[in-house]
Amino acid sequence: MLIALFPGDGIGPEIVAQAKRVLDALGIDGLTYEEGLVGGAAWKAVGHPLPPETLDIAKRADAILFGAVGDPDCDGLERHLRPEQAILGLRKELGLFSNLRPAKVFPELADASALKPEVASAIDLLIVRETNGDVYFGEKGFRTTAEGWREGYDIMSYNEAEVRRIAHGGFQAARARRGKLCSVDKANVLETSQLWRDVVIEVAKDYPDVALSHMYVDNAAMQLVRDPGQFDVILTGNLFGDILSDQASMCVGSIGMLASATLNAEGKGLYEPIHGSAPDIAGQGKANPLATVLSAAMMLRYSLGLGAEADRIEAAVARALAGGARSADLGGTMGTEEMGDAVLAAL
Ligand code: NAI
Ligand code: MG
Repeated sequence: MLIALFPGDGIGPEIVAQAKRVLDALGIDGLTYEEGLVGGAAWKAVGHPLPPETLDIAKRADAILFGAVGDPDCDGLERHLRPEQAILGLRKELGLFSNLRPAKVFPELADASALKPEVASAIDLLIVRETNGDVYFGEKGFRTTAEGWREGYDIMSYNEAEVRRIAHGGFQAARARRGKLCSVDKANVLETSQLWRDVVIEVAKDYPDVALSHMYVDNAAMQLVRDPGQFDVILTGNLFGDILSDQASMCVGSIGMLASATLNAEGKGLYEPIHGSAPDIAGQGKANPLATVLSAAMMLRYSLGLGAEADRIEAAVARALAGGARSADLGGTMGTEEMGDAVLAAL
């Protein structure tokens, strides 16, 4: 089984190194790794954020473990050369459209949440975010208005095939959980969202056992803070899902805790923490590696059929937290490597 390792920029290499240590410690037979350049690191080395050699590794691999991309040195580059094009390009080239972002509070961390402990402890939700369409991939550019003003534009669109396939993913996930699906859109003002809602209602006919509700995204942002325990599965588009999942991370305790899987129609997956390259703390050994460690666990479970090994990692993370392991984002003083040590010790 081949794993593509794409550490990327900023804290990416620091956190992926800890996830790799944890994977190594499991002693799984037949796991091999191939490392590839992505993001600003790739642009600096070979002039492109997603070089063909990297794409080739991604296509051959059984699963991809990704750190983060984003480098302030690249801020002035043209859009297609920016580091972020690496993750957008991988999602598009491999058809990775179904981004699963579970958010659950480790009881040991209820004190780290930005919410009251009794509100935070009720969180056990899954955000299913579409990642192949929406405003991120629409036509975009700059132009000049008739009055001579500079104008930027990004076209937001979804077609029914794109909505239908992610909707099926959402309903199936809800069926495997507590049977509740909340579809989040902005159908009161956006036609893209009206189509989204119409198609979700059509798909719902195949899942009579799942309770479907709809919520506007601004209300969803408010409800996530007021009463996050009401949610089971949240199904939403690329832009809204991006924002709501960062918000959910703080409800859980830290952006350094949330893992994700992004799957394609064949079940191939890319696994990454939901956060970015955190340039403000890069190179300081302070980043919390647990989101990446937990992403590696998702990888074992979803792409490699190693559920028991995934359980072992998750249990080790819980035990490390129970034992007091806290990086700076969790209010503690432990560094990236010490957090890795704590997980290994618990393992
Ligand atoms: P970010 O997620 O990198 O950081 C936001 C804040 O959270 C920062 O204060 C950072 O220090 C903190 N943080 C993030 N991960 C942490 C961790 N593991 N441990 C402790 N603290 C952590 O988002 P930001 O600052 O908006 O973006 C930085 C760069 O990352 C940008 O270039 C952005 O485009 C890129 N980005 C890349 C993503 C990806 O590779 N999938 C996703 C999100 C952003
Ligand atoms: Mg984001």
